[in-house]
Amino acid sequence: MQTEYAQRREQLMAKLGKGTAIFRSAPMAVMHNDVEYNFRQDSDFFYLTGFNEPEAVAVLAPHHEEHKFVLFVQPKDLEKETWTGYRVGVEAAKERFGADEVYPINELDEKLPQYLEKADRIYYRLGRDRAFNDTVLRHWQKLLATYPKKGYGPIALEDPAPVLHPMRQIKSAAELELMQTAAQIAVDAHNHARQFARPGQYEYEVQAEMEHIFRKRGAMGPAYPSIVASGANACVLHYTENTRQMQAGDLLLIDAGCAYDYYNSDITRTFPISGKFTPEQKAIYEIVLTAQLQAIAQVQPGNPYQQIHDTAVRVIVEGLMDLGLLQGDIEEIIKEEKYKPFYMHRTGHWLGLDVHDVGVYQHGETPHNLAPGQVLTVEPGIYISPYIKPVEGQPEVDPKWHGIGIRIEDDVLVTPDGCEILTAGVPKAIDELER
Ligand code: GLY
Ligand code: MN
Ligand code: MN
Repeated sequence: MQTEYAQRREQLMAKLGKGTAIFRSAPMAVMHNDVEYNFRQDSDFFYLTGFNEPEAVAVLAPHHEEHKFVLFVQPKDLEKETWTGYRVGVEAAKERFGADEVYPINELDEKLPQYLEKADRIYYRLGRDRAFNDTVLRHWQKLLATYPKKGYGPIALEDPAPVLHPMRQIKSAAELELMQTAAQIAVDAHNHARQFARPGQYEYEVQAEMEHIFRKRGAMGPAYPSIVASGANACVLHYTENTRQMQAGDLLLIDAGCAYDYYNSDITRTFPISGKFTPEQKAIYEIVLTAQLQAIAQVQPGNPYQQIHDTAVRVIVEGLMDLGLLQGDIEEIIKEEKYKPFYMHRTGHWLGLDVHDVGVYQHGETPHNLAPGQVLTVEPGIYISPYIKPVEGQPEVDPKWHGIGIRIEDDVLVTPDGCEILTAGVPKAIDELER
């Protein structure tokens, strides 16, 4: 893997020209008082270094004579390590992470300028860590002040995302292997949850069964707070309390995936907890499933990303019109988004080191076309909240539909001749879900 991190740095540096790029490790997040959440490295930082400690800075200076890759890390400190865990330290970081030079993080102010002063720009993404933003800006400001005398120095601050994130979007063989593992663990957890779930249980019991499998199989944990939403809770898109006692006749919507060695899976399935759909549940389910299958069929290299969403929306609108839940001219309903009280989110997102992974979906007026190696979710849904308010001119919703919330989500890899569904192992056909 070290070779792959080195290749990524080379590939990025080839595009930086005379610029110097600075990447900051993720900040620690507070859970409560003086207790912190488990540390999770910033995805850009991890992608380029594989280094997973906090309080670190990576510098890429392709124009520097000797030090093209520099790390600033926490120095060894046995007393602190006794409390918070072992650190790689300055010496070992050079060896293990292939840096040309490594400094203790407390020397950042002193050592950073030598990597910036001859650069023509600084690549740095202004982030949530205001203090570190200030550090970068302060160094830049100093160099701007000396520019007139020297006639060289960084005159621009640029976001590295437009060069780095297209790289992250195309997954390597090694990354795909990790994503396949993340997908398979989540597939097995969903299949177990469906066998396990029964009326009378609490939603959190199903959550616990799934997260037990995540951890037991070596995943870091859930990729995002697991959503186990029974009945009308499924109409709340990010319902994560998971505290309701499930009732016979409910649908259960489970949106849960895991992080395996930093790579994420993201699966949603919706099934009848008592083993049989009601006619209303089945009618809505059929629409969502058709929308999802047709949307997945659009996942082919060269197709515009937007086509996936457009396809899902059309199927959903047609289906809701057939049921009398939407009325009027189909083109107008789509154009004026009159379906939004039923379907208010996008049909998916990029997936990778981040669950909502980096990468653009559209280049201004120009579409983003799918390319092999990209991984995305396809996740249409229909949500008929008991509080649903149709847009003006649309019919009131008959209460028999109230509380039905359905989403179906798979993780899909764009391949040279179409796509591969990484999460195909969880059934979604009606006859596979009924018992
Ligand atoms: N579970 C987050 C998402 O589906 O985007
Ligand atoms: Mn999801
Ligand atoms: Mn998703």
